[in-house]
Amino acid sequence: MKYNFDEIIDRQNTNAMSLGGYRNYLFGGSDAFDSDYAEADLIPMWIADMEFASPPAVIRAVKERADHGVFGYSQIFDPSYKEAFLNWSKHYYDWKFNPDHLVTSQGVIPALFSLVKYICAFDEKVLIMTPSYAFFKLATEGSGRELITSDLVYTDGDYTIDFEDFQRKAEDEKVTLTIFCNPHNPTGRIWKEDELRRFGEICLENNVMIISDEIHCDLLRTENTFTPLSRLFPLSDKIITCMAPSKTFNMAGFMIANIIIPNRELLALWQRTEVPIVNPLSIVAAQAAYSHGHDWLEQLRKYLDGNFEFLRCYLAEHLPNAIFKTPEATYLAWVNLGAYLPEEEDLTLFFANKAGVLLEGDTMFVANGAGHIRLNLACPRARLEQGLGRMVKAIQALKS
Ligand SMILES: Cc1ncc(COP(=O)(O)O)c(C=O)c1O
Repeated sequence: MKYNFDEIIDRQNTNAMSLGGYRNYLFGGSDAFDSDYAEADLIPMWIADMEFASPPAVIRAVKERADHGVFGYSQIFDPSYKEAFLNWSKHYYDWKFNPDHLVTSQGVIPALFSLVKYICAFDEKVLIMTPSYAFFKLATEGSGRELITSDLVYTDGDYTIDFEDFQRKAEDEKVTLTIFCNPHNPTGRIWKEDELRRFGEICLENNVMIISDEIHCDLLRTENTFTPLSRLFPLSDKIITCMAPSKTFNMAGFMIANIIIPNRELLALWQRTEVPIVNPLSIVAAQAAYSHGHDWLEQLRKYLDGNFEFLRCYLAEHLPNAIFKTPEATYLAWVNLGAYLPEEEDLTLFFANKAGVLLEGDTMFVANGAGHIRLNLACPRARLEQGLGRMVKAIQALKS
């Protein structure tokens, strides 16, 4: 390996959300968090960022831009940024979009909050699939729109879309938007082409606009490939695609995401309303990642494959009744520990208090997640082993 993903990088005193933001995000500031472990010993496996350094090309580009010394208002004018991302899309997803439809945002989350307001009138509804990334709910309800959910179906190790249920809900004429996640957080599914076609057709036939959140689309197990929903519906202007370098290259703090809006009116509304300023360091960082990040990403994917295999073997040996299948994508493991922990147990709190492991339990994923935890595996293997060891011990102590 050219890059050392085993290196443990100390993130103390860097204002990292993973170390400083958990009390608020995981426990809402409640007193129930009272860990047996000292604060410095907590192992963060919750928020979806990585414990790895970004690719050297990104670090170099930021240093060079920093050396320039002038950091005035910036916006993306130079076509080379769009070219770099277009080349990336062509290379990895065989997808070519119109560069005029590409805008940037400070993140997919801010884009979701804006788009829900732009697309849905006050009395209209947003349809999502559950379990779900919590911000789909927050962006909807935070904007005063009603949320409708359709549970994914779990059979034989795989989650699938309940198309009958989804269609019935999409037929409600007040449902005008769906926020779709592909690859899916938290289950890790990459939706197949026939699933994407059927889903897209239901939405388009029922005038439901789609935000396709594809932020995890580069983080695939090494044998997999990814199909952007929009590639299958090239003539439709009803699909907004959200992608970003943030997950792929561990640069979420740069706050830059790519939003592709083919609908003319919506694009014009976005351009009239959103602040177009982009952090100058973020522009060069993202461009360097898309231009020079290929071999780093290939190696990262191999390392993550190894972490998932490690988890699979560890669970088989120590918690054989855990239900887990290596996800097709993302660095997030979705594990059903219902066989070991009573239903009423708050899983986030249990593992934080008893194992000193910060992870996200079922209640953080809107609905349809009972008994599950989501564990972030984008960390050095030694850290993963330590976290799993503590979790197993905590479960064993509970049993005895
Ligand atoms: C599905 C999904 N969308 C969006 C985000 C966050 O996006 P951003 O950091 O660009 O706001 C995450 C982060 O975990 C995510 O999992």
